[in-house]
Amino acid sequence: MSRTEILERLRTARPVIAPSMLKCDFSDLAHEVERLTAANAKVLHWDVMDGHFVPNLSYGPMVIKRVRPLTEMLFDAHLMISEPERYLDEYLKAGCEAITVHIEAVPQPTSLLRRIRDAGRVAGLALNPQTSLTAVEPFFAEIDLLLVMSVQAGFGGQSFIPSSIEKLRDARKRISSETILSVDGGIGTKTIAGCAAAGTDLFVVGSAIFDQSDYVNAADELGRLAGR
Ligand code: DX5
Ligand code: ZN
Repeated sequence: MSRTEILERLRTARPVIAPSMLKCDFSDLAHEVERLTAANAKVLHWDVMDGHFVPNLSYGPMVIKRVRPLTEMLFDAHLMISEPERYLDEYLKAGCEAITVHIEAVPQPTSLLRRIRDAGRVAGLALNPQTSLTAVEPFFAEIDLLLVMSVQAGFGGQSFIPSSIEKLRDARKRISSETILSVDGGIGTKTIAGCAAAGTDLFVVGSAIFDQSDYVNAADELGRLAGR
């Protein structure tokens, strides 16, 4: 699949509900993938944390690689790690279709973003709540996806920061209509509609799916609230 085809699949699936695998049952990943497939998920969001860029530690490319053959869902890797340029090849090899790095970890991300695109994948740039859009704006021509963090990166289960709505609206105005606008953190039934109205395409959801017993209902309800 080419980068253009990946983007087309993402655009066609809008509004995209992307379950955050940070909150899944790690003792039975295959079953979790089955349940998310039944819930019609098109994208899996992989939160990679290194215990350095963020205090928390999660999983790396070996885990992602083992899940890759189990599904045709698109893999959206969110690298919350320092020096992502050192590890990029491993995430490419693991089969991630979209790879997002943080501007706070890579203040000059042009060459890294180009490496991702040259590998035929979707290049994403993320920014934390305290980081202004002006920090990422110089790189808008280099990205296919902008990830607005609506909580400080590092942990699942945090409360949505309300000012993120204004940031999303502002981001939507500034980025190309071709660029996927994504939001991550505290997304659930109370917060998703506001983000959708602000022009968000892709909604990363941890707790609001994985804390529910019925993923099908949870994902349906979120999709409906996001305007599906
Ligand atoms: C936070 C992660 C999120 C998180 C989302 O650093 O990037 O993807 O797991 O979880 P909830 O939806 O519970 O905020
Ligand atoms: Zn994430």
